[in-house]
Amino acid sequence: MRRILVTMLVLMCALAPGLCQEEELAALEAAAAESSAAPVEILCPAKEHGAVGDGETYDTVAIQAVIDECALHPEGGVVTFEEDSRYLSAQIIVKNGVRLRIPKTTTLLAGLKREDYPKNYEDWYFIVLSKCNACGIEGEGRVDGQGSLWASGGTAEQKIVKNWDDASCIMQKECRPHLIGIKESTLATLDGVELYDAVHWAVHIVHSETVAVNNCNIWGDQLIPNSGGIVIDGSRRVYLGGNIISTADNAITVKTTSASHGVEYLLVDGGILQSRSSAIQIGHESRAAFSSLVFQNISIEQSHRGIAVSLRDQGSMEGLQFTNITIESLFYERIWLGGAEPIHVTAMPRAVNVEIGTITDVRFQRVTCTSEAGMVVAGSMDSTIEGLVLEDVAIELVQQTDFAGGFLDYRPGMRGIVDDVQTSAIFIEFANHVNLSNVEVVWGKPPRPEWGQALEITPRTVHATSVTNLFVHDESAHPHGKEDHVGSTRSSMMAWVRKIEGNLRSSHKAFLGLEANAAAGVSGRRAASSASVIVIVLLGVVFMVFVVSGVVGHFDMRSKRHARAPDEPHFDKIAQA
Ligand SMILES: *[C@@H]1O[C@H](CO)[C@@H](O)[C@H](O)[C@H]1NC(C)=O
Ligand SMILES: *[C@@H]1O[C@H](CO)[C@@H](O)[C@H](O)[C@H]1NC(C)=O
Ligand SMILES: *[C@@H]1O[C@H](CO)[C@@H](O)[C@H](O)[C@H]1NC(C)=O
Repeated sequence: MRRILVTMLVLMCALAPGLCQEEELAALEAAAAESSAAPVEILCPAKEHGAVGDGETYDTVAIQAVIDECALHPEGGVVTFEEDSRYLSAQIIVKNGVRLRIPKTTTLLAGLKREDYPKNYEDWYFIVLSKCNACGIEGEGRVDGQGSLWASGGTAEQKIVKNWDDASCIMQKECRPHLIGIKESTLATLDGVELYDAVHWAVHIVHSETVAVNNCNIWGDQLIPNSGGIVIDGSRRVYLGGNIISTADNAITVKTTSASHGVEYLLVDGGILQSRSSAIQIGHESRAAFSSLVFQNISIEQSHRGIAVSLRDQGSMEGLQFTNITIESLFYERIWLGGAEPIHVTAMPRAVNVEIGTITDVRFQRVTCTSEAGMVVAGSMDSTIEGLVLEDVAIELVQQTDFAGGFLDYRPGMRGIVDDVQTSAIFIEFANHVNLSNVEVVWGKPPRPEWGQALEITPRTVHATSVTNLFVHDESAHPHGKEDHVGSTRSSMMAWVRKIEGNLRSSHKAFLGLEANAAAGVSGRRAASSASVIVIVLLGVVFMVFVVSGVVGHFDMRSKRHARAPDEPHFDKIAQA
């Protein structure tokens, strides 16, 4: 297992340079070479300690005994289970050097009784790797939380879930056990297993270092509140590779609940995520720093919010990178947090008089979104977002549900939901150094009534913005596209964008047929000395460059488009439309 882990980490460092320092990489490679000479693994069959695996008899004592014995081997060992079996158990504690290997046709069933779990809520996990070194769970078998047995009735929006009445619970509405806990551990791995029907979070990685969750399938009931996927709290060097996660609560959550434990070096590479909340949620609880977080090659499907970055406390966030991601976001019932935004980056205090940190350097590159609502980038009076890049980003707005839209959702936090607003494809307020480059907005058919502007920048709160090659295509002739009305909170700049959208009726083909040189010839290199707007209309086709504080626009859209990799279906689809 050490070899698997080390290989993953070497991959992690290679994939995302900057994620690992050179000396760390060298140490990992040395460890990899050493571990490839490891002796034959020691197997510890659960059957030999009397585990029956009939799905009814508690096998807790037998399973724990085999783990404890296996841990006595200096090189550790692998606890094996019979095929075609169902092992019911109370809490299982994995010890140093031990891995549980669950065969494909076998299930470990989480006990449902209060006495199956320890005294305190913070220790409630079905399987826990606590202060554990080089331990894990592998195989293609299933760990089943039996969440459905906790739920009874409810509505079509959300099920009613039973909670234990226990004084140790922080919140009575979440007084239920998690499925798997990785606490204060190092070199821990979950590899290939199926984590099924958790009644709370499926995986909780807390205050740990060097952890890999690889090729796991995580499935949770879409109507059970708080049944989330992977939650990473205050941990360092975590790799999530190729996981497929579908849950009601966030698929992946990254947070810092303790001021003394930040999150650093996280790589999420590949995988498919779906959630009735956010597919990816960074922050919300943000008491310590987040730095060097890389998400790439991910497909987000049917989520209420795609990627959420929410700073609410004193911890700061720096160096967040999202590359090669497709996002599909749509409305669900309001009881679930989100508002169909593909991207939602916000920095605002949790409550009055709460100290707040800063968000610096967030990049979205090669991100393709299909969504019912627009992107929201909102700092606040207390915290301006510094350095945000949208490069090769496409957003196509498409009606998918009948839920009412037309609100700005600042949740989580005290600002809540602002109703009765038009939805802009891209909304920005309180931000500095924002770079939009090769950004494409498509208003699809049929339109939603609340759809408004392509790009809305709240006046006087956004500085040093560079918009280069923003393409707007209106297939729907949506109701507000033509209006000239500019609301009191709208910048006069936006009046231009509106007008342009309203006028834009040419086919997309003509749009693309525009000669790059022609445009370049007109604009050339141009640096404005003060805030100004340059709008160039050619052949009924529009290029826009906003120059706020002397930024240069480049018109090389054609060459960029042709340089794109063929595996970006959405860009191609738009191009052929
Ligand atoms: C982009 O991500 C997809 C998976 O979503 C992957 O198949 C593809 O290879 C990635 N492309 C690049 C250039 O990494
Ligand atoms: C993910 O993307 C990176 C670069 O963006 C690429 O090198 C890598 O091969 C991709 N991985 C997969 C699994 O597609
Ligand atoms: C933003 O764009 C400007 C001009 O195109 C460039 O000078 C600057 O380095 C860019 N910033 C980032 C963070 O990419």
